[in-house]
Amino acid sequence: MTTATSSYTLDNGRPGAGGMLDCLSAVLDQSTVELIAPLVQLGAHCLELGAGNGSVARWLADAVGTGGRVVAVDLDPGLVRAEVRSRQQVQVLRRDLRTDPLPEGPFDLVHARLLLAHLGNRDALVPALAGLLAPGGALVVEEWGAAGPGVVLSSPWPETAELYRRYQTALVAMFGSAGNDPTWSVRVHAAMAAARLADVRTVVRARSWTGGTAGCRLPIEVSGQVREQLVGHGLDPADLDALREQLGDPRVVVMGNLTWSTIGHKTVGG
Ligand SMILES: C[S@@+](CC[C@H](N)C(=O)[O-])C[C@H]1O[C@@H](n2cnc3c(N)ncnc32)[C@H](O)[C@@H]1O
Repeated sequence: MTTATSSYTLDNGRPGAGGMLDCLSAVLDQSTVELIAPLVQLGAHCLELGAGNGSVARWLADAVGTGGRVVAVDLDPGLVRAEVRSRQQVQVLRRDLRTDPLPEGPFDLVHARLLLAHLGNRDALVPALAGLLAPGGALVVEEWGAAGPGVVLSSPWPETAELYRRYQTALVAMFGSAGNDPTWSVRVHAAMAAARLADVRTVVRARSWTGGTAGCRLPIEVSGQVREQLVGHGLDPADLDALREQLGDPRVVVMGNLTWSTIGHKTVGG
């Protein structure tokens, strides 16, 4: 389901974008590092796509050491932290992955998290990224699928689940109107197999998020950036305000989004 055009709704130039990216790092970095650590050696060359605040690029810079190379690419790399940019092995590039040429490989690891679903050329990018891999290298694509409609595990307010469901419905509609493919997390595996990557495997993980912590702050940060768009996609402003209030309360616990991580390898000699 590739659309010809797409736009990135949550652009890094909006006020509050940094807070949202920090929430993503807090929620996801540990599991990303568990996944990619076995794939990265000292001296490796890595490509981090849609680098956001650069937290994964920072981890990669430590892992590859000064003899390695980390290329961090973003449409707007302005929020990649200075401490990441200052590493001699890190190169930060401003690129639009819908239209600009890809950085020159080969890479031992190419990693993209919460990015390709937003890009209309996602299907074509998978074989292009596979083509950047060194023999034995790995492509890792991580995407979110919803945990389910408004799964609230605990709340003192009976309406939290319904409010959360309405928020998620408006969010999916907003992203969809910008060309985001909500089925992409499930389609990545077949796309990698079609790109002739070997040993493709998909891991799905999720955990609960407590009110006030990063996972529950995400909808607060996101809706702070795109309130008008969410309202334009059917969300009642009063519902949004009530949800934002409730997600800050530690008595509320929601089931976090499912993270679908798919890994494919370029065979040695392949
Ligand atoms: C949802 S954020 C995820 C950031 C980071 N990967 C993470 O998981 O914490 C998506 C990132 O991809 C970048 N991005 C969006 N569209 C892009 C494009 N066309 N080309 C390159 N980067 C893009 C955004 O600027 C943003 O930093």
